Amino acid sequence: MAGPPTKASPVTKQLGKHNILSVKNLEVEYPGAPVVRDVSFVLNRGEALAIVGESGAGKTQTLYALLGLRSPEAVYKGEVILAGRNMNSLSPAEAAAVRGREVGMVFQNPGPYLNPARRIGSQIAETVRVHTGLSREAAERRVREVLEQVELTPETVRRFPHQLSGGMQQRAMIAMAVSCGPELLLMDEPTSALDAPIRRRHIELIAELRREMGLSVVVVTHDIEVVRDIADRVIVLYCGRIIEEGPASVVLNNPRHPYTELLLSSAPSVHKRGQRLRAIGGDVPRPADVPAGCSFHPRCPLAAEVCRSAEPALRGKGHRAACYFSDKLPLDRQEPDNSTTTGQSL
Ligand SMILES: Nc1ncnc2c1ncn2[C@@H]1O[C@H](COP(=O)(O)OP(=O)(O)OP(=O)(O)O)[C@@H](O)[C@H]1O
Ligand SMILES: [Mg+2]
Repeated sequence: MAGPPTKASPVTKQLGKHNILSVKNLEVEYPGAPVVRDVSFVLNRGEALAIVGESGAGKTQTLYALLGLRSPEAVYKGEVILAGRNMNSLSPAEAAAVRGREVGMVFQNPGPYLNPARRIGSQIAETVRVHTGLSREAAERRVREVLEQVELTPETVRRFPHQLSGGMQQRAMIAMAVSCGPELLLMDEPTSALDAPIRRRHIELIAELRREMGLSVVVVTHDIEVVRDIADRVIVLYCGRIIEEGPASVVLNNPRHPYTELLLSSAPSVHKRGQRLRAIGGDVPRPADVPAGCSFHPRCPLAAEVCRSAEPALRGKGHRAACYFSDKLPLDRQEPDNSTTTGQSL
């Protein structure tokens, strides 16, 4: 487990005792195109948060900002207070020191993040030695431990990445991400490339690791099982903005934004195993063309005049939604209004 931050900065005071992560008014803007808009949330220690939304919603850009991985082309605003430091104002070298030691990251496609020319064991051992200063023998012991935790055989230390299947590469990435005992694990689509039986075990493994290591988790996913089996809370992003947030079971069973309901109902059943969230009808606006008012209004069956003119605030306590007509949900009680259901295929 990572120790306390070595240098307490004044921002430590802003972080509640129970928070591992506090995000305030995060904005990421490429020239003329805001891709993350006014994102605020808090992650309690030991809590798991899922971030869902269609392709282009800003999920990966949000994760990168949490890690302090900033693109030189984009402007970043707001605060990401992680382990007492504002990742949004650290230098690349300072942010890199926090990553690995206090935050583990599992990227969507592990391939590019594993060095093809080096054996798995030596890659993980180097991560451990760089971030913890352990001796070579202790780092090698740690490698064997984490490989066992992710159910990879001891021989995996001698394997090169190309000798592993996609699922094994994912596990090797998870092993590397947790090898320095981080408090926080960030994962981008950890199950998207996996076949059904492997996927199921993978989800269980993440849930077990989380329990055993007391990890706090932020996971970006399109996989309802990941939300249901791993997440305590869910954030739904649309056009870079949080449009719904709440306890996972509540949001899955009783969404309060039409977008969330359509996103969930586009999968045949939220209770069936193996179901994935699928794209809903209509196009996601490009970041440079986000419509005025509620950004979802051109695709929304409930859209009215007010939705076109003023962006609704995220309202509620515990379970929040940015919709003027939350009380009209669920949608299947509604008579569809064909004048506003542009491209709705559900
Ligand atoms: N370097 C860049 N320059 C300009 N726009 C970018 C850049 N990188 C990402 N974007 C835009 O930011 C938006 C959000 O991208 P992001 O990768 O966060 O989406 P996502 O929600 O992770 O989608 P997916 O589910 O497909 O992974 C997209 O519209 C994307 O085109
Ligand atoms: Mg992404």
